[in-house]
Amino acid sequence: MKKVDVILGLQWGDEGKGKVVDVLTPNYQVVARFQGGPNAGHTLEFDGQKYVLRSIPSGIFQGGKVNIIGNGVVLDPILFKEEAQALAASGHDLTKRLYISKKAHLIMPTHRVLDAANEAMKGSSKIGTTGKGIGPTYTDKVSRNGVRVGDILSPDFQTIYLHAKARHEQILHSMNYDYDVAQLESQWFEALEYLKEFKLIDSEHEINRLLREDKSVLAEGAQGTLLDIDFGSYPFVTSSNTVCAGACTGLGVAPNRIGEVYGIFKAYCTRVGSGPFPTELFDQTGQRLRDIGHEYGAVTGRERRCGWLDLVALKYSIMINGVTQLIMMKSDVMNDFETIKVAVAYDLGGRQTTEFPYSVEGVEIKPVYREFCGWKSDIRGVRSYEEFPEAFRRYVEFIEEETGVPVKIISVGPDRAETIVR
Ligand code: GDP
Ligand code: IMO
Ligand code: MG
Repeated sequence: MKKVDVILGLQWGDEGKGKVVDVLTPNYQVVARFQGGPNAGHTLEFDGQKYVLRSIPSGIFQGGKVNIIGNGVVLDPILFKEEAQALAASGHDLTKRLYISKKAHLIMPTHRVLDAANEAMKGSSKIGTTGKGIGPTYTDKVSRNGVRVGDILSPDFQTIYLHAKARHEQILHSMNYDYDVAQLESQWFEALEYLKEFKLIDSEHEINRLLREDKSVLAEGAQGTLLDIDFGSYPFVTSSNTVCAGACTGLGVAPNRIGEVYGIFKAYCTRVGSGPFPTELFDQTGQRLRDIGHEYGAVTGRERRCGWLDLVALKYSIMINGVTQLIMMKSDVMNDFETIKVAVAYDLGGRQTTEFPYSVEGVEIKPVYREFCGWKSDIRGVRSYEEFPEAFRRYVEFIEEETGVPVKIISVGPDRAETIVR
């Protein structure tokens, strides 16, 4: 019986998961998303074309692979329809090879409104969510009030929907929040008809059957470890388990069926939305990372906050996920940098620690940096590890020594081809 390999982000999301899933897909027969929803924006580039995926797994461009949206995902039918139809228009019809778990929860129009209302109520301490209704949908799941994909096949679906909507209306009324979802609601019901054209399945049975048939499965995460609901920088996190354990609960795969765990990180660090970010740069260097790395959100277009690589946080993420192989992205962005810094410890008011603390909010954290000479050359054309300049290899090997995990893939540009596998 085959195992499931997992690929997930080790920072605050946008590490380049979409690109790497696409690159690794030829080695797999099945690609499955296990959590998150359209808060994700996974970018892929090849043959001069760029695609941004939100709910659909990034394995759809490499031949006739099976792609699965797992039970841990929250699905917005309207955004899903837009995404799938745009792909169909560009020659990628998915109806026969994209399966959707009946246990995935549906994002309702009123979930989006609740997301906005919750943020408005938080005022200056708002999370800076993507506004896609993620938090309220997972809240309903956990409080046992959710509506699932499988429910749309029930003759009682109207009643199920109206019951859930009435609850939301009560909450919004108590918050004094004005809204109008009439138009969204009719789009939502139309989109449900479109959803029914796909294979709605018990995906936990399907995935385990595929594994028994010795088919190889790649599980694709969304967001990143530092946005995990349990282990991230709470409360400035998303509402799902983005860590490796999320692949077990989000697909119905037993822990002893997990194989390789690929952890992706940028050669520096970014974050969108509010919350602590110890190595954030507010100066010209931060702006240079943003400009050269085009660090603007794929979903909301917001500026991404930028800073140096944080090994304290990275080691924490590696520990939580049991990462077996590291993947370093966007190395090319620092091609022209004279010096590059990496945080190796935190100074908390005179006390140094290498352990990621309970809370990094409200605590004065001074990162303790180790400085490296930049490689000062264009590495985008490099195609084998040996071709990299020595200063670059020193950077990679330092990360390997510190973390104890090999850096197996290095990305030097957004295109599929700009990838070095060691
Ligand atoms: P994801 O959410 O983890 O899939 O990442 P995003 O797609 O949100 O953000 C990553 C961005 O970096 C995308 O615009 C990619 O096209 C781009 N990208 C990925 N790898 C590289 C790389 O090695 N170098 C550069 N310059 N850009 C990259
Ligand atoms: P991918 O998969 C980066 C952030 C939001 C906000 C917080 C909560 O592309 O890496 P939510 O809408 O989930 O309730 O927002 O999480 N966030 C992301 N940041 N990449 C993502 O996904 C994100 N998904 C959510 O900006 O701070
Ligand atoms: Mg993204």
